[in-house]
Amino acid sequence: MKNIVLTGFMGTGKSSVGRQLASELGCKYLDIDTVIVKVSGKSIPDIFKEYGEEHFRGMESLMVERLVAGDFGVNIVVSTGGGTVISDSCRSALKGWGTVVCLTARIDIILSRIGSGEGRPLASGTTVEGQRAAFTELLRSREKFYTDCDLRIDTSSRTVSEVVEAIMSYLDNRAD
Ligand code: S3P
Repeated sequence: MKNIVLTGFMGTGKSSVGRQLASELGCKYLDIDTVIVKVSGKSIPDIFKEYGEEHFRGMESLMVERLVAGDFGVNIVVSTGGGTVISDSCRSALKGWGTVVCLTARIDIILSRIGSGEGRPLASGTTVEGQRAAFTELLRSREKFYTDCDLRIDTSSRTVSEVVEAIMSYLDNRAD
């Protein structure tokens, strides 16, 4: 099975790692958020503002359905959005489709990587302390979903290349 799915909270490095991993594996890279923006012609913050989070989650589910149905091809590295795997059906579809790698990071690292939260509707419009409290709670409520993976890597003190190397080494050593 050549498909790889990167999951994890905002700011854990899914997109940077995904792009480099795809390039090193010589396969296609897909970012679910980017596909949603392309298909809808709207930014993620605009989708949240105009239609609400539930609608966005529906779009994410639809993209996952299309992905596992092969609409985007095979041998793909996919970065999910931070909330894609909170859906039981998305999580189970992605697990059956590829190797699920969950990226993690410490809360202080997440906050500094996300900065003002531009482009991320769940990460803007509050103080740093408010953001820390909201993210700590969101991370706690999502932990069980992120744990449901094949490999987990803490990216807090690793470069993108080091994370990619760790994933490649896991794939090389895996028994299948
Ligand atoms: C979200 C994470 C975002 C994006 C949307 C919702 C979340 O993706 O899908 O803003 O619920 O955690 P990134 O994890 O790529 O920032």
